[in-house]
Amino acid sequence: MKSSPAKYYILSAVFFIVAIALGLTADWEPLFDNVAPFAFFALLISAGSFLRIDIGGNNIMALNDAIGFAALLTYGPAFAASIFLVGMVIQIVFTGDAVFRRLVLTSVGVIDFFVASLVYYDLFGALPGLAGGARDIVAAFSAGLIVWMVDRVCSYATLSFAGVRKMRGLFKQLKPYLFSVPPLYIWGMVGSYIFANSGYLMTSVFVLLLLVVFVFMRNQKKYLDTVRDMVFSMAKMIDARDSYTAKHSHEVAVNTLKIAEKLGFLEEDAQAIYEAALLHDIGKVGIRDSILLKESSLDEGEWHIMRQHPVIGAELVASLRFLPGYDKGIRHHHERWDGKGYPDNIAGEEIPLWARIIAICDAWDAMRTDRPYRKALPVEVALDQIKKGCGTQFDPNIVPIALEVFQAQADRSAVGSPEAVLSRNIIRHQA
Ligand SMILES: [Fe+2]
Repeated sequence: MKSSPAKYYILSAVFFIVAIALGLTADWEPLFDNVAPFAFFALLISAGSFLRIDIGGNNIMALNDAIGFAALLTYGPAFAASIFLVGMVIQIVFTGDAVFRRLVLTSVGVIDFFVASLVYYDLFGALPGLAGGARDIVAAFSAGLIVWMVDRVCSYATLSFAGVRKMRGLFKQLKPYLFSVPPLYIWGMVGSYIFANSGYLMTSVFVLLLLVVFVFMRNQKKYLDTVRDMVFSMAKMIDARDSYTAKHSHEVAVNTLKIAEKLGFLEEDAQAIYEAALLHDIGKVGIRDSILLKESSLDEGEWHIMRQHPVIGAELVASLRFLPGYDKGIRHHHERWDGKGYPDNIAGEEIPLWARIIAICDAWDAMRTDRPYRKALPVEVALDQIKKGCGTQFDPNIVPIALEVFQAQADRSAVGSPEAVLSRNIIRHQA
């Protein structure tokens, strides 16, 4: 998909102009009449600007959304938009946000607020601070939903229109956003109610509690990221144990990703299969060196142990909830299309697609690297072996795509090989 920065700038400019136009037509009286509350909300949004959590899939969870929404439900859209502008300045000055990006996000935020205001105040006729009871709670829920929807549509439309991401893939990314961001609007509703009924002190206590929750969530995310990094470091350690397979997992993962992309995997799925391929041999952590590094061929008992590595790897990864489904790709990467593989002897499409792709890349990389008992096979011979394995060892639907990927990789490395560089230099020298 070809991205077009020009289209991104055009749509961003449209958001900016719409936000300004909404601002010019808005009723600013609530802001001028409430200078002290404005200072209070500005203080809150300044603190909240430092608390953002990357929840994956291009989504950020920010406490400012809750504070801005509370401002909207208490004093209307012009007040809330001004509060958001204060947050924007703080983020640009203190958190190193790019000016243009922050300007676009704030413009979208301002548009969200004006649309939500139409729902809350005009459609439902709700009162500031949810003073009208049950009707206003329903109105606030609906307004929160509208903010959320308009925000997603605007930001996905920008990315899709500019060709950065496909709309299909973007909507798949909604999952993490779905469960973590809507509660922000509920926090905003509660905040607005507390401020309207109990004043500055209780609102400050409530916001302080939210800050604690947010810091806790952010630390939990950091903790999970650390565990994740540790898992991938373990895969690198396994490669490092055997100098012959030093780059094996990396090479397998790169080709797996390319095949997945050619098969039309969505970006998130392609990333997941890439990671599963990085971890495909992680079960070798449980195989002792005397077998793993043995230079001569393995006896029957040693093979039996060696064949346990997909099972060990799958069990290891299955317990990690942030790597969902990876275990199937790992467990079955030594299965064969004809059912003569291991550990479960399953055949054809019974073998998970991820495992079928990883298997062919695994075989290719094994053939293309030196081993203690043989040199790497030449490109043509290795390609021929893959063709011979079509429909017996490998999925016949994947083989043609894999051959394209492997051939392209071989061509690239031939261009960069010492022989090729030398011959190019000679030609240049002679010219
Ligand atoms: Fe393996």
